[in-house]
Amino acid sequence: MTFKLRKLSHGLGAEVCDIDVTAPMSESAFGEIHRAFLDYGVLLFRNQNITREQHLAFSRRFGELDRHDAFPSDRHPTIPELMLVTNEPQPDGTPSVSRYTGRRWHTDMSHTLEPSLGSLLRCWKIPGVGGDTLFANTAMAYDALSPGMQKLIAHLHGIHFSGGRKLDSTAADQAHVAEQKKISPPVAHPVVRVHPETGRKAIYLGEKVKRFDGMTEDESKPLIEYLNCHSTKPEFVYRHQWRENDIVMWDNRCTLHMALGDFDQNERRHMERTTVVGTPSGYVVASA
Ligand code: SIN
Repeated sequence: MTFKLRKLSHGLGAEVCDIDVTAPMSESAFGEIHRAFLDYGVLLFRNQNITREQHLAFSRRFGELDRHDAFPSDRHPTIPELMLVTNEPQPDGTPSVSRYTGRRWHTDMSHTLEPSLGSLLRCWKIPGVGGDTLFANTAMAYDALSPGMQKLIAHLHGIHFSGGRKLDSTAADQAHVAEQKKISPPVAHPVVRVHPETGRKAIYLGEKVKRFDGMTEDESKPLIEYLNCHSTKPEFVYRHQWRENDIVMWDNRCTLHMALGDFDQNERRHMERTTVVGTPSGYVVASA
């Protein structure tokens, strides 16, 4: 073993200790990191004072990077493979459209036909207190369901909606919501997804899902709420308290995450994310 791993919680997560992600890395050393990624679902790399190009280069080792066509207003102005999660105002002084990104349980790009394999979020600035991120292990949550519930959800598809991000009633924010809805029609994915690399089943829902395909919202709501509450029980969760120059990578196929807004909004929280493209899944729902 080239790297030391430190477990972060019972449910998921490990810190990869004493590593410089920009240093040359053999295939076998990278293989160990990849194995840890599959085993722990969330990996933490501390003290990575790296450039944007180095962030991209490390991320590319895991696969092709999304150019975030589904989030045009959230991209870095010159680097489309970087998505901003920031409350730094835009150059013209208007609030950033990504200031509330990730404030509900979700998994990245689930409203698309190529939901993400994994994301690597680099922390540039954090507020004095608060602004942590929660991660939940949805494979562990699936395993903890009764056989009866596993059978009940086995063939359901959840419809994932874009444009539901919490924003304000300003014209710019509302234009952003409308743009998102236009770009990304609702997409249905199996509620139980089989991880393409580990073969484990995981609950694939989150708060972007409003109903099951073939059912009404009223009919779907109790079960969706139950499964989301179940998946995010404390025993399946890791809470990450950020430090500047942390990179946290998570597996979008078997985890949910949520950014907490419990900080002084006058302080800056600035994150930049790369998103690794996953395997095709699901179908567009025309009449959602
Ligand atoms: C995200 O959902 O990708 C962002 C999470 C965060 O800002 O903590």
